[in-house]
Amino acid sequence: MKDGERSARQYDAMAAEYAADNDDGAYNAYYERPATIALLGDVAGKDVLEVGAGAGPLTEYLVEHGARVTASDVSAEMVKLAQARVGDRATFVVANIEEPLSFKDGSFDMVVASLVMHYVRDWEPVLREFRRVLRPKGAVVFSTHHPTMDWELSPADYFETKQITETWKKGSGKYQVTFWRRPLTAMTHAIAAAGFVIEQLVEPEPLLELHARSPRDYAILATKPRFLFFRLRPT
Ligand SMILES: C[S@@+](CC[C@H](N)C(=O)[O-])C[C@H]1O[C@@H](n2cnc3c(N)ncnc32)[C@H](O)[C@@H]1O
Repeated sequence: MKDGERSARQYDAMAAEYAADNDDGAYNAYYERPATIALLGDVAGKDVLEVGAGAGPLTEYLVEHGARVTASDVSAEMVKLAQARVGDRATFVVANIEEPLSFKDGSFDMVVASLVMHYVRDWEPVLREFRRVLRPKGAVVFSTHHPTMDWELSPADYFETKQITETWKKGSGKYQVTFWRRPLTAMTHAIAAAGFVIEQLVEPEPLLELHARSPRDYAILATKPRFLFFRLRPT
């Protein structure tokens, strides 16, 4: 089974509960989204492809800041939620990033991939497709699980690229979620092999507001790297 088919099933099953949790959850609203937004820069007037867009919180930010957005996700249920949120202010597609993208060369100024890359084992072909659809002065911004976070789940061999399945509690349900842990070196090799240089690599800290809202989450996110953020440009 392709990684994307499994992810589609897993996210279809928990779509509404995942989306509700993501909207104002500590890890997404106070840590991941602010760090991604800081890497985007000015998006006004830009053609942006957002992959793994989920229920569309970042899609909404992008359109509200003047970008022309095409948003895709492998989960049809997540795309439905994103469409309900953003309406016709963006174009939506159900698509698996393991497959060739359905866009012409040089169609976008930016590709954004927020917390989706770790669902795919082989990054190089995915990044090559991002590069193909980017304009020469374009950029890729993406976030992924920090390798040391997932190493805590499977500490035997840091250098192995390993599939991990976790059980997530969302709302009243429990859901299995499968992703790939890989060392930082594997990430940087795939990035270089696909024709990118790293412009910025960021290990952010959470927004200070989180301290009052959830001191426990703040203490974790302010002391342990959970996600890793990249801004790439084509060579
Ligand atoms: C952790 S959620 C992040 C959603 C959104 N980017 C956000 O930050 O709110 C990961 C999303 O990636 C999608 N996804 C997983 N594997 C994918 C694949 N192979 N192709 C496209 N989307 C995928 C899932 O369906 C899910 O919506």
